Amino acid sequence: MIKLAIIVGSTRPGRKAEAVARWVLEIAQKRSDAQFEFVDIQDFHLPLLDEAMPPAMGQYSQPHTKAWAAKIDAFDAFVFVTPEYNHGTSGALKNAIDYLFREWNNKAAGFVGYGSAGGTRAVEQLRLTMGELMVADVRAQVALSLFTDFENFSTFKPAPSHAKSVNTMLDQVIAWGSALQTLRKK
Ligand SMILES: Cc1cc2nc3c(=O)[nH]c(=O)nc-3n(C[C@H](O)[C@H](O)[C@H](O)COP(=O)(O)O)c2cc1C
Repeated sequence: MIKLAIIVGSTRPGRKAEAVARWVLEIAQKRSDAQFEFVDIQDFHLPLLDEAMPPAMGQYSQPHTKAWAAKIDAFDAFVFVTPEYNHGTSGALKNAIDYLFREWNNKAAGFVGYGSAGGTRAVEQLRLTMGELMVADVRAQVALSLFTDFENFSTFKPAPSHAKSVNTMLDQVIAWGSALQTLRKK
């Protein structure tokens, strides 16, 4: 069974990302076709990238990089929970992604975005990054609206229909994450 990380993509005080990621985890944990884990980038206290060597060389010097690399290396697939900041993802999530290379390669990913337009522009930006990291990003994505899925633009109250979208996205991520395991074993 593959291991899938649900990655919290905001470190902002008062962030919505945590509630959204916990909701994704709750839906995921009703399934029995993968193991799911909540991964909070905030716990890794990553400064702005402070490694001298390019991540693709895999020569990590900082303890925070080694801890982050060990965590991501353990997974076969990812769900990125991303806010939209100025039509892109958060700087914190981009920075956390940029820290590593091999640990992301030949794995699968899906996205849960939120914002005034469902976080779709942030997800489009992440898809470009995934290509460079050799991550297979699935078609289905979850787009949550600040207008209709957050009461008073703050308390997360997702429309019930989004649970189905989460499961469709997970179906695709788990299928591709499982298939790519074979490639990584070679
Ligand atoms: C710096 C910044 C830029 C933002 N830009 C956008 C944007 O371009 N599009 C959008 O839909 N929401 C935008 N927002 C609103 C965020 O979607 C909203 O604040 C959301 O709660 C951020 O996620 P977080 O609470 O998990 O950090 C922006 C918020 C911040 C802080």
